[in-house]
Amino acid sequence: MGTNHLSRLSLDGQVAVVTGGGGGIGRGVALALASAGAAVVIGDIEPVRCEETVAAITANGGHAVGVPTDVMEVAQVGALIGAADQQFGRLDILVNNAGGVVSKPFLEQSERSWRRHIEINLVSMLAATSSAAPLMISGGRGGSIVNISSIEGTRAAPSFAVYAACKAGMISFTKSMALELSEHGIRVNCIAPDHTATPGSRGQVRGPVDESAWPAVAPDVQSAMDRLIPLQREGFVDECGDAAVYLCSRMASYVTGVTLPVDGGTSASNGWVRGRNGRWTLNEGLPLT
Ligand SMILES: NC(=O)c1ccc[n+]([C@@H]2O[C@H](COP(=O)([O-])OP(=O)(O)OC[C@H]3O[C@@H](n4cnc5c(N)ncnc54)[C@H](O)[C@@H]3O)[C@@H](O)[C@H]2O)c1
Repeated sequence: MGTNHLSRLSLDGQVAVVTGGGGGIGRGVALALASAGAAVVIGDIEPVRCEETVAAITANGGHAVGVPTDVMEVAQVGALIGAADQQFGRLDILVNNAGGVVSKPFLEQSERSWRRHIEINLVSMLAATSSAAPLMISGGRGGSIVNISSIEGTRAAPSFAVYAACKAGMISFTKSMALELSEHGIRVNCIAPDHTATPGSRGQVRGPVDESAWPAVAPDVQSAMDRLIPLQREGFVDECGDAAVYLCSRMASYVTGVTLPVDGGTSASNGWVRGRNGRWTLNEGLPLT
């Protein structure tokens, strides 16, 4: 065991694949892994976003390639994983980040919509894991898989029921894979973000990302965050990036099968909120004895 903690965060010489790495949390994770020394393969459905993240990494002296990929197409996911091997000769890290959600009460949701939720959030992770793990095993150096779940994977989520079920499924799959892949030195963990500032959460689902067009957080939204999120703000994509670097690094060498909330304390609060008078209250007004 080295004693230099910064060196134990280094990912020098490693190769990572990040799905949905062109924007939002995936981009934050890709930039963080690259700044820790990994070469990164960006798999995003939007070619312009792939190019933009690759440009940001290479401008910073890092190594990256973009492989436009629809994670709902299993063959394309296989090609994305294969590209890591072809371009960089190895694969150490897989981040299953691409996902999606629409808000609708379950009884108003179509079968097509359930199936799309399952394809993009769950099947994409299965496809990437099934391609990536054999490559990590044959490399003989172990590896790290990080699945981007959500706080919705551990609580009820009315109007997001199928999404929440998929995110819970990601947490469950993470635990099973942590055991199945442990003998190969492959660690499998989850990150569970709460509300995070991303193109998707700002309505920029497709095309180039233009953060300058994002409106400032509205006062009523900020006031709700002040009361509902213990750290009183939304999260930033770099904060998921930092968590991913930790989970992929030697600093987390004995950490597998866990779900790390990156949520400003929301999951811990479990119903406790700041009341309008600024004092903590349970479920906004339930009388406390
Ligand atoms: N933003 C949040 O508040 C939040 C909270 C909890 C969990 N999450 C999870 O984090 C992940 C990323 O969310 P985000 O907010 O950064 O999303 P986003 O929409 O801002 O970015 C998603 C990226 O994935 C790409 N993408 C979309 N569909 C794709 C597909 N079929 N194949 C490949 N790439 C595709 C998009 O082009 C985009 O670059 C998702 O799994 C989401 O469920 C987000």
